Amino acid sequence: MATLFKDVYIVDGSREKAERVHMLVSKGRIAEIIDAKETPPTADKIISGHGKAAVIPGFVNAHTHAAMALLRGLGEEAPLMEWLQNKIWPVEDKLTPEYIYWGTLSAMLEMLATGTTCFADMYFEMDRVAEAALSAGMRAALCRGITAGEPGKIERSLQNNLELAEKYHGREGLITVQLGPHAPYTVPFGNMKMIADEAKSHGLGVHFHFLETEGELKNLGVDPVKYLADSGLLDVPYLTLAHAVFLDPDADISPDNITLIHNPCSNLKLGSGVMPLTKWLERDFPVALGTDGASSNNRLDMWEEMRTAALLHKGVNRDPVCVSALDVLRMATYEGAKAYGFSHKGMIREGWFADLVLVNLDNPHYIGVNDENLAAYLVYAGSSADVEGTMINGRWVYKNGEFPTLDREEIVAKAREAREAITR
Ligand code: NI
Repeated sequence: MATLFKDVYIVDGSREKAERVHMLVSKGRIAEIIDAKETPPTADKIISGHGKAAVIPGFVNAHTHAAMALLRGLGEEAPLMEWLQNKIWPVEDKLTPEYIYWGTLSAMLEMLATGTTCFADMYFEMDRVAEAALSAGMRAALCRGITAGEPGKIERSLQNNLELAEKYHGREGLITVQLGPHAPYTVPFGNMKMIADEAKSHGLGVHFHFLETEGELKNLGVDPVKYLADSGLLDVPYLTLAHAVFLDPDADISPDNITLIHNPCSNLKLGSGVMPLTKWLERDFPVALGTDGASSNNRLDMWEEMRTAALLHKGVNRDPVCVSALDVLRMATYEGAKAYGFSHKGMIREGWFADLVLVNLDNPHYIGVNDENLAAYLVYAGSSADVEGTMINGRWVYKNGEFPTLDREEIVAKAREAREAITR
């Protein structure tokens, strides 16, 4: 079935200016983009924009722990380690595969309704997370969070992660799988090396938390680049470093296989600090945006991350031009897709996948919007309240408050039951 977006604005992180076009989506891809002044192509379904709607690439939430939506609000306003050890880890012990399944689905409702089409998730019981993503038709980059514990735990978790890759990597074009050593402070160095070796031999990426807090930098005991090099992590096919708040922006690491994941709201809420984003952008280093889990954010809303990132660094650097609206739009879309091995996603281009967000511009806060200022309007004036529809692979997964692929009522009821059970 072909869908025509008639007379809409399109913008993405690579366009200096928005364009007013007719855009045809067919067989899951953006089939044709022509000027809005021309005669529109025919289609089974027509979305009439009348120049008062925009289509932007779907957001890629490049670092989250979706099922932690069940832990939202627990232990607010505590430092990272105290929060993890006293509030989060004891409750996580009570999570069952079923709870994780329903918690993930409830997080997916939030993400789809706010325009996210792909999420990078680190957690456990990831088979259930994969099944949740497949049932919704949502893209996901999945890794099993690997942490030390009783003897043999790391080896078992790694095995579990490799089985996840075997079973789901590439499934339906929706899923990619990475290895997920949680962080240097939860995985001993020797095991990190073992995991990097496995990533190399299986051609998998690695997703992990790196230098979120200043304490982690102190406890690392070696230069961060030496740590990454000696563990073999620098040589894995691709590496995503969540947070990197305390990684020196002059660090000698390659932009070819590494992406930093900036989580501004989570870093602010936990009082971790501010990553030197502008320095990384100056050297054209890939940086993607993520929310982190809903228990440290507490939103799963990429609009919020874009706006916060753009404002925060302007303020910290006392420079209104150091991070642009286009920069954060690219970070929220294309950079995340690329970081996790999803090709031809994250831009509005003919032949690319139709992972799209339909934005309603017929709102008072968009008065005055035009092709030159659309990106800035979206980032500074817009919000997820403007999302009218979310499409993945050319299929609506959210439209006008409804979720065509998911049973919202059942998910909310089951997630509520799970929350009650783990906090009882
Ligand atoms: Ni995290």
